[in-house]
Amino acid sequence: AKNIPAIMIIFGGSGDLAHRKLYPSLFNLYRQNLIHDNFAVIGTARRPWSHEYFREQVSDAIHEFFDEVDENDVKNFCTHFYYQSHDVTSVEHYVTLKELAQELDDRYSAQGNRLFYMAMAPKFFGTIATHINDQKLVGSGFNRIVVEKPFGRDLATAEELNRQITASFDEEDIFRIDHYLGKEMVQNIMPLRFSNPLIKSIWNSDHIKNIQITLAERLGVEARGGYYETSGALRDMVQNHIFQIITLLAMDEPKDISSSSVHQAKKELLDSLVIPSEEDLKKHFVRAQYAGSDTTFAYRNEPNVAEDSKTETFVAGEVKFQKGPLKDVPIYFRTGKEFREKMSRIDIVLKHSSNPYGFAHSNNITIEIDPKSRIYITLNGKKISEPGIRREDLVYGLTDQELAQLPDGYEKLLRDVILNDSTNFTHWSELKRFWEYIDTIEDYWTKENAEIEELPQYAPYRMGPKEANHIFESPTERWIYE
Ligand code: BG6
Repeated sequence: AKNIPAIMIIFGGSGDLAHRKLYPSLFNLYRQNLIHDNFAVIGTARRPWSHEYFREQVSDAIHEFFDEVDENDVKNFCTHFYYQSHDVTSVEHYVTLKELAQELDDRYSAQGNRLFYMAMAPKFFGTIATHINDQKLVGSGFNRIVVEKPFGRDLATAEELNRQITASFDEEDIFRIDHYLGKEMVQNIMPLRFSNPLIKSIWNSDHIKNIQITLAERLGVEARGGYYETSGALRDMVQNHIFQIITLLAMDEPKDISSSSVHQAKKELLDSLVIPSEEDLKKHFVRAQYAGSDTTFAYRNEPNVAEDSKTETFVAGEVKFQKGPLKDVPIYFRTGKEFREKMSRIDIVLKHSSNPYGFAHSNNITIEIDPKSRIYITLNGKKISEPGIRREDLVYGLTDQELAQLPDGYEKLLRDVILNDSTNFTHWSELKRFWEYIDTIEDYWTKENAEIEELPQYAPYRMGPKEANHIFESPTERWIYE
């Protein structure tokens, strides 16, 4: 295995993301020797922790994540961790940080390589990027930066943040995280489409009637009401995860599977993205909030949520392209909190053709992303002892053991960062288009808000608002998953 030398600086080292995801993932990469003797991590955050205390936190994070670990591995791993209490606005702190990075670089022979990781509240991203540039924190080797979501709140703020980051980093060194791109079945969309002649040959508007993406969650907004009020379901889930999934489904086959070819194919597709008109928005989009007769489950009763909030916790809508294999095919999406169950899936609904048996089911291809990783295809056959059509599903799935051993999405993505593979990260050209689309909807909703008392409501732990059943283009369409 390769052993990549680098000093990693994590902004938000005491945070939840670092604790739950980054430290366990780094530990696994360490056990695989991808990072080993020549790496060190500097955690920064406001709290005045010592190196020792920080290492205990990292060790705890690993024990919480893994059932069984070799204690020696954990101990050795933790010796690579250093902590610096850091105020993101203080020039001096960046100077100290730079010196510490240099000192560790010498000690670990890290060859001037730096990995910066923005894992704190997004409002600080721009400030940190600006200081990285002004206090010249970049090293003499490779310099990469990982940026968590959300990347801006609309196109204007995303552009501003991008300017601040590109002052020190080239586009190919910026790794904008979308954790859905680390999910096994999202990474399976391209192989499914391009390695199966059976599927490749029907992946077009002659055969596909529509595509339906559902990202449903059982949980409400929990303790994140403050953030969620500034976001809503459209920005939180559609701007990133749903759009990346759609792009993988609708793009042309890339010339090869290199990062640049994949991003090129995405870009070409997105150039033909149809920005919805007001009429489209009225007909094919729905937003709503969870609320029940029992108010304890109501969004507007959540902590840090305004009593008269018009923030949507559910959104459904339609995406279309003017080019590519799915030209003019409706791609419907819906996502919401407090649904019946956690379920992330893609249903590809094929057109019917006439057949001599009367009724036949449509051949649906379903890609289930969570909770199970599997693909199934609906087939028609004969009923055994009576006339008529019987329906069966062909299933492609991972075994329970494979599922249990599946590397966490973050581990895969961090590995990609260390190996310099940006295939599964969001390129600026994609992000820009996503925001253009989202901004159009947000602008329309802002206008509409002046005229409405409240958003449509939906009962918790069911299938969302009934209004979402009427977003389709034709009366013969309906949600396959219900
Ligand atoms: C995050 C959103 O990006 O994705 C959360 O901010 C959401 O609101 C989460 O709960 C869902 O991710 P997953 O992997 O649980 O489907």
